[in-house]
Amino acid sequence: ALVSMRQLLDHAAENGYGIPAFNVNNLEQVQAIMEAAEETNSPVIMQASAGARKYAGEGFLKHLIQAAVESYPHIPIVMHQDHGQSPKICQGAIDLGFSSVMMDGSLMEDGKTIADYDYNVKVTRQVVDIAHKLGVTVEGELGCLGSLETMKGDKEDGHGAEGTMTMDQLLTDPEQAADFVRQTQLDALAIAIGTSHGAYKFTRKPTGDILSIERIKQINARLPNTHLVMHGSSSVPQELLAEIREFGGDMKETYGVPVEEIQEAIKYGVRKINIDTDIRLAMTGAIRRFFAENPSKFDPREYLKPARAAAKAICVARYQQFGTAGNA
Ligand code: G3H
Ligand code: 13P
Ligand code: ZN
Repeated sequence: ALVSMRQLLDHAAENGYGIPAFNVNNLEQVQAIMEAAEETNSPVIMQASAGARKYAGEGFLKHLIQAAVESYPHIPIVMHQDHGQSPKICQGAIDLGFSSVMMDGSLMEDGKTIADYDYNVKVTRQVVDIAHKLGVTVEGELGCLGSLETMKGDKEDGHGAEGTMTMDQLLTDPEQAADFVRQTQLDALAIAIGTSHGAYKFTRKPTGDILSIERIKQINARLPNTHLVMHGSSSVPQELLAEIREFGGDMKETYGVPVEEIQEAIKYGVRKINIDTDIRLAMTGAIRRFFAENPSKFDPREYLKPARAAAKAICVARYQQFGTAGNA
């Protein structure tokens, strides 16, 4: 059944686990997530980014997720809008039937200018007012995603702050977070701790100076009852990079967010963990392998099948690693 995200995050908090939120753009990704959830008995958060909405169209995304709800009536499913850039966009998603929306007021509507605090409070509060009347969950963001190695905003997916950033912008301030939650009354808070979107997050396996689990502990100490959200939380498995390279792809050396760091974060209030890139890498590796091994094949079903299976394997692993399994 379609449920609000608040309901799932409350249960996760009561029982000390985290829930991966997977980005979806097409049929095979929706199917992969649902097969994984079915196999592990996990609750599901599927989210549509601005890029997904542009690629597939809101209507197709909505009905793909609706098809999942109908095909798996016993699994709770959240249909979440990822990174809404304005109250208007969030309103549109709510009108379409999304059960959860993110109002990302850390940036202005252009998606690259860093917003000031009062603007963020205002737009987030505005969405909370609309959404809560309808039982829709709201995620907000305080702090800007970006790298503590380069002090650059997150640009890879075309959504991220421009120019050089300061430590203050790249790490969410616990005191300000407390004020933000109080003023907006949001349900879940996305925080900045050094992660960024895409495959190129870190040039080495991250240590505490570039991935601050310490900051999560400080925010959690100040806001023990707030559900925290980690964006840019793909682990970028080295095996997947190796597979892509083996079959002709060009992936530079790079590192993601280690699963054990996420497991530590889950002990300190992180309940929603956003994952898109790992699914992209898994599907690409499988498709590259398939084409290399089967140069004469041309039926998309034949190469999308291993791609779907590879995406499913990532989802199963994360459901198990985050403690989501068994909680549907
Ligand atoms: O928001 C970040 C997600 O990885 C989605 O990226 O806009 O390219 O779909 P996208
Ligand atoms: P990744 O690029 O690390 O998968 O992050 C996805 C995300 O945060 C979507 O909002
Ligand atoms: Zn994100």
